[in-house]
Amino acid sequence: MTPKTSINKLKNFEGQEVSLSGWVYQFRSSGKISFLVLRDGTGDCQCVFTEGTADSKSLEAFSKLSLETAVEVRGQVKKWKDSYELKGQDLKILFSAEPWPLGKKSHGVDFLMSHRHLWLRSKKQRAIMNVRNELIQNIHHFFQKEEFLHIDAPILAANACEGTSSLFSVNFFDQEPAYLSQSGQMYMEAAAAAYGKVYCFGPTFRAEKSSTRRHLLEFWMIEPEMAFCNLEEAMELAERFVEYVVQNTLQTKTEELKVLERNLDFLRETRAPFPRLSYKTACEVIQKSNPDFQPGGDFGGGEETLISSQYKKPVFVHHYPKDIKAFYMKEDEENPSLSLSFDLLATDGYGELIGGGQREDSLEKLEEGIREHHLKKEDFEWYLDLRRFGSFTHSGFGLGLERLVAWVCGLDHVRETIPFPRVYGRSFFEKSSSS
Ligand code: 4AD
Ligand code: MG
Repeated sequence: MTPKTSINKLKNFEGQEVSLSGWVYQFRSSGKISFLVLRDGTGDCQCVFTEGTADSKSLEAFSKLSLETAVEVRGQVKKWKDSYELKGQDLKILFSAEPWPLGKKSHGVDFLMSHRHLWLRSKKQRAIMNVRNELIQNIHHFFQKEEFLHIDAPILAANACEGTSSLFSVNFFDQEPAYLSQSGQMYMEAAAAAYGKVYCFGPTFRAEKSSTRRHLLEFWMIEPEMAFCNLEEAMELAERFVEYVVQNTLQTKTEELKVLERNLDFLRETRAPFPRLSYKTACEVIQKSNPDFQPGGDFGGGEETLISSQYKKPVFVHHYPKDIKAFYMKEDEENPSLSLSFDLLATDGYGELIGGGQREDSLEKLEEGIREHHLKKEDFEWYLDLRRFGSFTHSGFGLGLERLVAWVCGLDHVRETIPFPRVYGRSFFEKSSSS
C-alpha cells in the first residue's frame, strides 16, 4: 500500500512512492509535461506529470482541473532545490471546484473580507495563522513554566469591567440583560486569592462602534493575575513574558515571517528590561513634537506612536491619572490623583499591547470607585468580598492576542490576525471594517 502523508513530511520519504491529498493551488501544461502545485494546509508541493510516467487516465484528469479542485496524487518523492516535489504517477479528482472567486487579479480588502472563509487558504493567511498558533503555544508555555494555574473565566457576566460604554448585552430570560465579558480580570482576582498565580486566556468582547486598525469586537486576551505582587513586579513579569513569546516565535517561525516580509530588527531587540516612562514624562515627550497636546487624557494612536518611536524596544508608560483608568486601579498613595497602572506600547507604531496594574485593595476606596463610576454596587458585591475576606496586594495585566499577532507579523490591520473577525457574514462588518 502506498503510504498517505502530508506535504510537510515529504522529507521522510525521499525516493519513495507516497499519496497526497489536497487542493489545486496552481496548474499548467506545456507540451508533454504538466505541473500541478498542490496545497494541503501543511505546505505546497509541485507535482510533475509526464507522458512516460503518468498513465493516460491521470493526464485526462489533469485536463479537467480547476483551481481548488480536491485531488489525490500518487507519485515518487524527489528533492528539488531546497524542498521536495512529486514525480506524479496517478492523479484522481475527488471533488471538482467551480470557478475560483479569488483568482489571479488582486482584490480589495472588502471583497477579501467578505470571502474570508476562502481567503484563509492563501499563503499569507496560512503564515499568519501559523504565527498566531505559535504565539498561543508560547504564551501557555511561559505561564505553565512559571507555575501559573490556567483558570477559565466566564463569558456571560452581570457587570462591566472596562466601562459601560462598550458592553454587548444578551437577553437573559426575563431578568435584566447579561453582558458578554469585556475581561476575565475580576474572576482572576478571585482565583488569585484562591491559588496565588493564575491566568485566563479566552475571548473578550467590546462593542466598539467605530472601527480602527487596532480594534475588534471580539478578541482573545491573556490575563495573568498575581497575589502579593505590586506594580513594578507586574511590569517585570510582563517584559519577561513578551520577550519569551517573541524570541521563541522568531526562532521557530522564520519561514512564515519571510512569507510576510516582516522586518525583524525591532522584534530581535525585544529583550527585557524595557524602558519605563511615567505618564507625566510621556506627555513631555509628546509635547516636544506636538506643543498643542494637552496632558490629562488617555493617549490616542498618534500619541502612542510618538512615544514608541523613541525606542527600539516596547516601552512601558505607568502611573496614568486615576480618573482616566478603570475603577479597580489602585490609587497611588504618594499622589492620589494617579493610579498604579501601566500600559506596554509595542515598537514601530503598533500601539498598546498590554494594559494592567495594581488592584485597589481597600474596601472603602473600591466602594468609592464604584460610586464614582456610576456602577451598580449589587453587581459587585462578590468582587468586594475579595477585599472583605483577606484583602491582598495584587496585580495583573491583559495582553490582546490579535495586537500581538499584528505586531509580530507586521500587519497594517488587526482584522487579518483572527480567523473570523467582527460579525462574520453580516453586512455591518463590510461597511465598518475598512477604516
Ligand atoms: O487595556 P484593556 O482594556 O485592559 C483590560 O481589559 C484589563 N482588565 C486587563 C487586565 O488587567 N487583566 O485591554 C487589555 C488589552 C489591550 O492592551 C489590547 O491589547 C487589547 O486588550 N484590546 C483589544 N484588542 C483588540 N480589539 C479591542 N477592541 C481591544 N481592546 C483591548
Ligand atoms: Mg487599555
